[in-house]
Amino acid sequence: MTPKVLEAINRQIAAEFSASFSYLSMAAWCEHHKFTGAGSWLRRQSAEEHAHAMKLFDFVLARDHQVRLHALAEPPADFPSVAEVFERALAQEQEVSRQIDALYELALQEKVFAAMAELQWFITEQVEEEKTMREVVARFHMVRDDPSSLLDLDRELGARPTAQPS
Ligand SMILES: [Fe+2]
Ligand SMILES: [Fe+2]
Repeated sequence: MTPKVLEAINRQIAAEFSASFSYLSMAAWCEHHKFTGAGSWLRRQSAEEHAHAMKLFDFVLARDHQVRLHALAEPPADFPSVAEVFERALAQEQEVSRQIDALYELALQEKVFAAMAELQWFITEQVEEEKTMREVVARFHMVRDDPSSLLDLDRELGARPTAQPS
């Protein structure tokens, strides 16, 4: 692995932990506002992001390099509405997709083929993550401010099955 790619992967580990931290903050806001289904959905999302960080963490160690953990920014704690929480979650996933694409491009330039193979999993995962989030955002748009539909949607989010281990 080249130093540039190693540094970029260590940065991506922090980006995945940041996403995990951000989803956890969103979960806390939802649960505090009694959207317990959305809260449990976001807790699971947070755990998935933690698993993404650990997948890269394990990859760096498997390649016999040193993991360096970078500082995480404080995530936003207040949101205007539960719908807005998911809008921001979608924007966050789109940003992560751009980061993964840039990382893949760097690995290609540097001819780090093992990293390219590892990152292919993340490229596929981002397609799924964006799709899921876009669907949830669309549901919130349909429901708008109708309280009973909002409660149904919250209940449905709470029933999200546990993610498959990768
Ligand atoms: Fe992720
Ligand atoms: Fe994600």
